[in-house]
Amino acid sequence: MSDRYLELVNSSVGSAVASRVGLPRPAKLRRFADDAPILPGPALLGSTAGRVPAALKKLVTSAGVEVLDSIDKLSTGERVAAAVLDARSIATPGDLAALRAFLAPAVKALAPSGRVIVLGVPADGADVRVDATRQALDGIVRSLAKELRAGATANLLWVADDASLGAALRFFLSGRSAYVDGQPLLLGPGVAPAPKDWTRPLTGKTALVTGAARGIGAAIAGVLARDGANVIAADLTQAGEALAKVANRIGGTALHLDVAAADAPQRLIDHLGAQTSGLDILVHNAGITRDKLMANMKPEQWDSVIAVNLESQLTINAALLASDQLNDQSRTVSLSSTTGFSGNRGQTNYGATKAGVIGLVRSSAAAFAAHGNGTINAVAPGFIDTDMTAKMPLATREVARRLSSLQQAGLPVDVAEAVSWLASPGAGGVTGQVLRVCGQNLVGA
Ligand SMILES: NC(=O)c1ccc[n+]([C@@H]2O[C@H](COP(=O)([O-])OP(=O)(O)OC[C@H]3O[C@@H](n4cnc5c(N)ncnc54)[C@H](O)[C@@H]3O)[C@@H](O)[C@H]2O)c1
Repeated sequence: MSDRYLELVNSSVGSAVASRVGLPRPAKLRRFADDAPILPGPALLGSTAGRVPAALKKLVTSAGVEVLDSIDKLSTGERVAAAVLDARSIATPGDLAALRAFLAPAVKALAPSGRVIVLGVPADGADVRVDATRQALDGIVRSLAKELRAGATANLLWVADDASLGAALRFFLSGRSAYVDGQPLLLGPGVAPAPKDWTRPLTGKTALVTGAARGIGAAIAGVLARDGANVIAADLTQAGEALAKVANRIGGTALHLDVAAADAPQRLIDHLGAQTSGLDILVHNAGITRDKLMANMKPEQWDSVIAVNLESQLTINAALLASDQLNDQSRTVSLSSTTGFSGNRGQTNYGATKAGVIGLVRSSAAAFAAHGNGTINAVAPGFIDTDMTAKMPLATREVARRLSSLQQAGLPVDVAEAVSWLASPGAGGVTGQVLRVCGQNLVGA
């Protein structure tokens, strides 16, 4: 469903009117395009330690990005497409002044859909002064993200280990992260090999996506296939026709699977055994809503949502881990929701499952790591334009669309890009995490 308001305020008349009366002016976001570079201009690099580490510079230049090491090298009127600040050296509140000194001029020079990325070290409990200073980065980045306009984003990478730093920088600098804003993400140790071909990092991988007949699931199947994976698109039998179309479009195969059926785990394992050489990527996307206020909630509305959105993921994961069908360095990604953080009126059942998924990935990381260095993460979409959100009353939907720092709903492809990145070999240092794809949703952000 197209966002007519966004189209309007990006026309010359609409833009002038919106600016005069102070209405939100959502920008057209820079998204992935086949022929586009990771970044359409130079990245300004800085470090709170003074000198930018050579290793960081190399990671950025090897992604094909031109690097500027001083804003003074910018000619008048020239913009930077990104500003990357290595703040891993900070140790006292006084050190935070270096962030202002770098970011204030950098933000002024930031191009539309620009990227601000701050690197920090997670607090470790060793020294209260250091920990308090490190944690301050979270407040700076979240606040800055709320100030940026014209489709620009700010995100924070907590670098406990740099195994996945290169892959993370490529994702966060590129159009793939268009709707990820104001988010912290922990990069830990892990097996995170660089792919042979960064443009098709999933080549040779077998992926299964549940609920793939439409909406976010169909977009995930499409992006995984674009990135090189052989995709099995799974959905309910009644979604058969739509599912077949998705499978044909992406050059994948279709599987009729009700994830909440008692025999779903075994059917899945039998299918993998017969048709594949094991599963590399599993995306738990199938999900339903049965919204009712708690006072009016019927048992079947409660039970069906718990069964599809949460119980199915637990049983399928357990069966796969116990089988011989999950390959080494597997990637599992579960669909949570910002409702899992913030709650939502009329969604106690749905909120339970989406918060439950967060608990599930945190608690499962060790088991997946023990199974050939696999990872498991969740992606929590905010307001995404799909059939699920099309059911909302018009006025509620229009308001909800503007309630994020990017002042617009995300697209299914935005969620799919995040899933595909977490599913890639280079993301092996990210596990047990939840990445919100919500444009910095102002509800519970
Ligand atoms: N749309 C949003 O704004 C939004 C926001 C946050 C989270 N999410 C989550 O993203 C996921 C996809 O959402 P969507 O908006 O694309 O939903 P959707 O309703 O458009 O599509 C869901 C798909 O899942 C399938 N499905 C339902 N029950 C199933 C079952 N038992 N077995 C197999 N497949 C089943 C449906 O047939 C459908 O094709 C869901 O988990 C949802 O909770 C969506």
